[in-house]
Amino acid sequence: MPKNKKRVILAIETSCDETAAAILVGDKILANIVYSQLKIHQKTKGIVPEAASRAHIEKIIPVIDRALCAAKIPPDKLDLIAVTVGPGLIGSLLIGVDTAKALGFVWHKKVMPINHVEGHIYANFGFKNGQAINSKSQAINFPVVCLIVSGGHTQLILMRGHGNYKLLGSTLDDAAGEAFDKVANILGLGYPGGPAIAAAAAKAKTNCKPKILLPRPLINSGDFNFSFSGLKTAVLYKFQNLKISKFKTVAMAAEFQRAAIEVLVTKTIAAAKKYQAKSIILGGGVAANKLLRQELKKTMRQNLPSTLLFLPPLSLCTDNAAMIGLCAYYHCLKSDRSLKDNQEIKVNLQMTL
Ligand code: KG4
Ligand code: ZN
Repeated sequence: MPKNKKRVILAIETSCDETAAAILVGDKILANIVYSQLKIHQKTKGIVPEAASRAHIEKIIPVIDRALCAAKIPPDKLDLIAVTVGPGLIGSLLIGVDTAKALGFVWHKKVMPINHVEGHIYANFGFKNGQAINSKSQAINFPVVCLIVSGGHTQLILMRGHGNYKLLGSTLDDAAGEAFDKVANILGLGYPGGPAIAAAAAKAKTNCKPKILLPRPLINSGDFNFSFSGLKTAVLYKFQNLKISKFKTVAMAAEFQRAAIEVLVTKTIAAAKKYQAKSIILGGGVAANKLLRQELKKTMRQNLPSTLLFLPPLSLCTDNAAMIGLCAYYHCLKSDRSLKDNQEIKVNLQMTL
């Protein structure tokens, strides 16, 4: 197939607790269907892998069917099936990968394996998404510093070009989203914790007394690693010592959110300065956080006024298949990935960039 032909891609994502399928023509998203298992996991205040796998089995075909119908693309018009092969939950990944291989066999289509974290990066590269937030209609310029923050990952990545990555740092313990989820659980705010903490923090008064102060872990460590587990424990101990009231809960949520975001923003700016990044990209579920988006924008205006900022639309922050399709599209353009035999494609739990 010619390199510049706009391929019609069916993308599948089932690495965790969202069953997702998307249809793209080139970098244009025609359909992006996500079935969220939220209601199932709310009962257990967290993801039970077996429950996630079962829900994926039930939903994967209906979700793919909805995506094809919404895009009005019959299977014979597809050029490629892209699927997340890792990292993620083994049972969840297997369902997406085996479905992609089965459909590839029946429809005579090639399957392209995609890294989930790389998918989060490419959420910024969609048609119309790839425009800077802080500058008029500027496209993404390399080198790029990517901050990927989700329930399973917290990574700072230097991207020198498409497919060219260097891991600058990552979390030493909990991922940022995981910390939001666990702190929300401690504060009794429900699941998933990210949106719950953000909503509670929005109600906090700025003049709360006594002022709650939490640590900013590793903020001056001089490297690009993160640690959130101590911050979570600090919340637990402080919260146990406070007489619990709604007022204290929202104040604690607000201070936790400030602490986590201050560390994320400070390290991202430091990495961008050190590697003279021309653009900064945000990705992953925590990228939906309003304060994180605002603070990154504000801090960049003050410290890196000529660096471009890219924030994915909210629909492409949490897990979705459109980002997997976008990543596949750019791999096709580079054509550096000669597609393997479909049968050789396997789940890869430890997949790195
Ligand atoms: O990327 P994602 O959907 O799944 C993984 O790849 O892990 O991210 C899910 C995570 C959850 O931990 C959730 O609490 C967090 O993203 N999240 C948020 C917000 N929305 C989702 N965290 C902070 N603020 C938000 N608004
Ligand atoms: Zn994710």
